[in-house]
Amino acid sequence: MNISLLGPPGSGKGTVAAKLHREFGFFHASAGQLLRREIQRGTQLGRKIRPIMERGDLVPHEFAVGVVRKAIKSRPKVVLDGFPRAIAQLRHMEDIRVDRVIMLSIPEREVVRRLAGRRVCALGHNYHLQFLPPKRKGFCDYDGTSLRQRADDHPVAIRERFRVYQRQTRPVIGHYRKKGLLLMVDASPAPEKVWKEVRKKVRSAIGG
Ligand code: AP5
Ligand code: MG
Repeated sequence: MNISLLGPPGSGKGTVAAKLHREFGFFHASAGQLLRREIQRGTQLGRKIRPIMERGDLVPHEFAVGVVRKAIKSRPKVVLDGFPRAIAQLRHMEDIRVDRVIMLSIPEREVVRRLAGRRVCALGHNYHLQFLPPKRKGFCDYDGTSLRQRADDHPVAIRERFRVYQRQTRPVIGHYRKKGLLLMVDASPAPEKVWKEVRKKVRSAIGG
């Protein structure tokens, strides 16, 4: 079974996906993280997409679908974090199954608070200075690497990511709603509460 996790920037997709990996064994494919890895490695693709991601726009659909397709090849159980995010991407992904879609809903003002305090490690583990602090200040609990702010977590890019979400991703959510695949989760409460809700919905969807 594949689950797509959608929601505005900062709604907690990465945080929930990490839990789905740890507790249910889903392979975590974050489109954003896969693309950021290309930038970190300095590949040709990475050099092309860097300015696009830093200003908060979507990268060309074939690149996004391409990195996801490659990462999930022969994985039986995947959480697609932030994918697909535009109706045009649906046309490129006939071979990528989506069985359920979890939509994390959250008001815009809460997102700004979350993204301002977010810190990430080089491998993409997420923390928050106040809501989800690491055990050792400034370092990742899992791999010990140092924590930093993301290049697109500045106010101009955050606003653009929001605009892109409203314009491009909301229609995708409408598409899955019509297909009866949508599970809505209120993502405003504390992380443990959000996770309880997601876990309940996933258990009932997979019949566990
Ligand atoms: P992506 O990396 O997916 O960024 P995003 O959608 O803007 O979402 P974020 O990663 O910022 O937030 P999140 O929802 O994962 O929240 P998190 O768990 O970190 O995409 C980045 C870019 O890549 C895009 O702009 C685009 O350029 C490109 N891209 C990606 N996918 C693409 C696609 N399909 N097509 C084309 N281009 C694509 O949580 C946020 C913070 O809040 C953290 O600090 C966390 O600790 C904290 N937190 C989490 N949950 C809670 C809670 N319940 N209460 C309090 N704090 C919480
Ligand atoms: Mg994320």
